[in-house]
Amino acid sequence: MAIKEILKMGDPRLLKKADPVEKFNTPELDQTIKDMIETMEANDGAGLAAPQIGLNLQLVIFGFKKNDRYPNAESVPFTILINPTITPLENEREDGWEGCLSVPGLRGVVPRYKKIIYQGFDQYGKSIKREVDGFHARVVQHECDHLLGILYPMRIEDFSLFGFHEVIFPE
Ligand code: NI
Repeated sequence: MAIKEILKMGDPRLLKKADPVEKFNTPELDQTIKDMIETMEANDGAGLAAPQIGLNLQLVIFGFKKNDRYPNAESVPFTILINPTITPLENEREDGWEGCLSVPGLRGVVPRYKKIIYQGFDQYGKSIKREVDGFHARVVQHECDHLLGILYPMRIEDFSLFGFHEVIFPE
């Protein structure tokens, strides 16, 4: 296991579309997931996408019981999600603050669909299908955006709500 370096905004590898995972339940996939978990935990992240550690794969992990980066967020079950698709269940979007380990120190308000169905596979190829809302839906949309080469600042509509975490949320 190893804590990997997280690529930062400006790195062209974060702007690529990720390729689907083709083989499940392999030692390589298992190792990649272990590295991602360790890297996410070491950085206190709510989620991490494979492209953030330089792997151009449709693989994200997310979930937490309590997260210091998002102290008011309800818990999200820990999930390994591969080759995901997202279907919004209503057109309505809601604003919420987001950050990203690839955009350190900053926070911005991003509109996201309130209610979605997400589908995909776990590391063994078992299918996952969940209907979610709230912060869970937000995290999934944020992480899956990484697989499309989209970072949250590219989704911001009101740039007066974008700035440094320590300024916006002083201790
Ligand atoms: Ni991110």
